[in-house]
Amino acid sequence: MEKEKLQALLHDMSLEEKIMQLVQLPGQTFEESAALTGLADMDKAGKMKTLAGSVLGLHGADKIKEIQKTYMDNHPHNIPLLFMLDVIHGHDTVFPCPLAQGATFDPEVAEKGAAVQAKEASADGVQVTFSPMADLVRDARWGRVVESTGEDPYLNGLMTAAMVRGYQGSDIKDKDHVAACVKHFAAYGAAEAGRDYNTCEISEHTLRDQYLQGYRAPIAQGARLVMTSFNTLNGVPSSGNKWLMRDILRDEMGFEGVLISDWGAIMEMVNWGFAEDLKAAAAMAMEAGVDIDMCTEAYSDNLEALVKEGKLKEDLLDEAVMRVLELKNDLGLFEDPYHGASEERYKEITLSKESRDLARDAVRKSLVLLENKNGVLPLNSKKIALIGPYVDEKKTHSAWAITCNDDNNITMRMAFEEEFAGSDVQVKYANGCTLVDNDCDLGFMKFHSDTFEEDNEKLLAEALEVSDECDTIIMCLGESLMQSGESTSRADIRLPKVQRDLYNKVKEKGKKLITLIFTGRPLDLEDIPQTSDALMIVWRPGTESGHGITDVLTGKFSPQGKLSMSFPWLVGQEPLYYNRFNTGRPKPAEGNTIFTSRYLDCPNEARYPFGYGLTYSDFEISKVKLSSDKMHKHDCGTTLDKNRKSDCNLNETIKALVTVKNTGSVAATQTLQLYIRDMAGSTVRPIKELKGFKKVSLQAGESAEVSFEITEEMLRFWTASNKFESEPGKFKVFIGFDSATDNEAEFELI
Ligand code: GLC
Repeated sequence: MEKEKLQALLHDMSLEEKIMQLVQLPGQTFEESAALTGLADMDKAGKMKTLAGSVLGLHGADKIKEIQKTYMDNHPHNIPLLFMLDVIHGHDTVFPCPLAQGATFDPEVAEKGAAVQAKEASADGVQVTFSPMADLVRDARWGRVVESTGEDPYLNGLMTAAMVRGYQGSDIKDKDHVAACVKHFAAYGAAEAGRDYNTCEISEHTLRDQYLQGYRAPIAQGARLVMTSFNTLNGVPSSGNKWLMRDILRDEMGFEGVLISDWGAIMEMVNWGFAEDLKAAAAMAMEAGVDIDMCTEAYSDNLEALVKEGKLKEDLLDEAVMRVLELKNDLGLFEDPYHGASEERYKEITLSKESRDLARDAVRKSLVLLENKNGVLPLNSKKIALIGPYVDEKKTHSAWAITCNDDNNITMRMAFEEEFAGSDVQVKYANGCTLVDNDCDLGFMKFHSDTFEEDNEKLLAEALEVSDECDTIIMCLGESLMQSGESTSRADIRLPKVQRDLYNKVKEKGKKLITLIFTGRPLDLEDIPQTSDALMIVWRPGTESGHGITDVLTGKFSPQGKLSMSFPWLVGQEPLYYNRFNTGRPKPAEGNTIFTSRYLDCPNEARYPFGYGLTYSDFEISKVKLSSDKMHKHDCGTTLDKNRKSDCNLNETIKALVTVKNTGSVAATQTLQLYIRDMAGSTVRPIKELKGFKKVSLQAGESAEVSFEITEEMLRFWTASNKFESEPGKFKVFIGFDSATDNEAEFELI
C-alpha cells in the first residue's frame, strides 16, 4: 500500500482502533496450547482480540490463516494481525544455541542458520521473530548467556548482523523471510549478580563503549524491530527510559522501526517503583517511544484517557501506530495477510536434508576442544563406552527452541549406532545416572523423572559394568535444558551433583576418558579438565547434535571452535571477561606480591579464556610484523551520526603480518585473532579488544602468511570528551590463537 493510503487509513481509524494497534496479545487468547513465554495474565484479552494489533506465541499455517481471516473480517478497517514468535536458533531444524554460534567465529554460519529458521517459521505462519538477542554477557551465573553470542562486542555485532541478514533477506515481503527484532535494549546482560530481571548499574561510558556496540550492528543492518529490556539502567526501567529510547536508539542510532516492550515490562515499571500505577506506566512508555505493549493492559486501559485528558499528545500515538502499520505494509500483509503461511510449503521444506546438513555443519564448527592429551582424539579405539545422561537425552536444544520437537534430535547413541554399524568397533552404552536429581530446582517445568534414588543405583551399576568392557569411555554429561535460558540464574555453576558423582566413580576405572559437556553457559568444571584425557564443550547443539559431535570425535572434521565466553576456575570469579581493565595493581605473572589485585584462593585469569580452542593439529605463529610503527590520523570531521566520525579515506592504515604453520600431522583450521590495546586513554582502556579474526586451513606442514589491516576506526572508543573517537598515543597489536596471546608489536597514532 502506498504511504499516502497508509496515512489516509491512519486518519480514518478511531482512537480505540489506533490504541489497540499498539496492544500485543498472548497466543493463548486465540489458542490454549500457544507457547507461554511470559508471566502476565490479561483479564480482558478475550474481548481485545477483535482489535489488538499483534499476537505472539502462535504458529501453524492453517490455524494462523483461519485466525487472520476471522480477525480481518471483524476489523472495522480490515487491518491484518501481526504474528510474532521467538525463533531464536531454530523453528523445526534447530541450530546450536547462539552462544555456540558465537564459538564458530563464523558469521556465515549464523546467517545461513537464520535463513533456514526464517523459511520454516514463515511457512508455519510466523511474520516476526524475537531475535537476535544482542546482549553483551559477562556473567556465567545469568542463564540467558545461552541466547547471546558471547562476551565480545565486536564478535556479537558481526554475528547478530548476520542473523538479521538471514532472517530478513533483502526484502521482508519475501515469503521465506521474517522481520527481525534486536533485543533486549539495553544492557540486560549486565544484570547485577547474574540474577535475571535485576538492576543494571553501569556508567554511560561503559554503556556506550562496551554494551551498545552489539546492538548497533544488527540495527544498522536494518532490523525492523527492537525490544526493550526488563532491567533498570542506572535506576530507570528501559521501557520508560526516554533518553535511552529516543536520544540513543532513535536519534543517535537512527532506528526508525517498531519498538516493542518485553513481556509485561511496561506493567513492571509499577513493581520497580518507577510508575505509581499502570496509567503512569503507559504514559512513560509512550513518552519513551515504546510502540507495542507486550501482554499487559497498560495501553488498552489507559491511552484513551491519557489522550482525552491531554496528558498524551495524539500525534505521539499516531507516530507509534504508523510505525506498526508500516511494518505490516512492508511485510506485504495488506496485499497478502498470510505472508508465507502455507502448510504445503511447510511440509515441503521443514527439516529438509539441506537444512539438517547446515545444522550439522554448524554443530561441528561450534564445538570447542579444551583438552586432548596423548592424542586420545580423534577416536582410535575398538572398544568404546558412551556413559552419561546425554547418551540418550533428546533435549539437546536450548529452552528457547520453543517449537523444537526433540523427536527430531539426533542423540549420541543414535549417531554412534549409525557411525559404527557393521564395523569392528564395539560400542556399549549406559546412562549412568538421571540428568538431575532433587538438588536441582528446575523451576516451572519438570522434564526429568523424579524417581531418582532407585534409578540411580541401578544406572550406576550398569555404567560401572560397561566401563569394565571397554578401553575408551566417552562421558556425555551436561546441564539440563532447563538450567539455562530465561529465569535460570545459578549461584553454583557446576554440573548436577548426580553427574559429578557418576564421573568420579567412572574415572576410578582408569580408562581413557573423553568428556563431552552439554551446556548453555560456562561452568565450573572442577577436576574434569585434569582427570579427563579429552574435554569438549558441545553447548546446546540442537537437532543435529549427535551427528555433528560424532563427525568431530571420529576426526571426519577437525574441531575449530573458540570459546565465546571465558570459563572460570570458580563461580566466585564471575563476572569474568577477557577485555577487562588492568587496574592500578595488576597481579604480576610471577611472584606473589601481596598488595595487588588478586584472589587469595583462585587465579585472576580464566581457566579457559575467550577465543580458546584446540584443533587436532598443532600450529606455530611468527612474531607480529607491522608495515609501520606510526599511523598518522587525519580528522576529516565528517560524521555519520553525532558521535561517530565517518571512515576518512585519508587515514593511513598499518598492515600486521604473521606466518602460521601447521606443525602437526593432520589438516586443521585455526582462527587467528587480532587484538588491540590502547596503552593510555582519556578513560582507561581494556588490556585487549578483539578487532578482527581470520580462519586459516592448512595441511600438515603447510604455512601461510596472514595479514590484518589496522585502521584508525579500530582505535576509536567513547572518550572522556563524550565522543566516539581515537586518541593519539601508543598501541599494542596482538595476533594469536586466543585472547591470552602475548604475540605483540607496538605502533603509535600521531
Ligand atoms: C520473554 C523474553 C523475551 C521474549 C519475550 C516473548 O520474557 O524476555 O526474550 O522474546 O518474552 O516471548
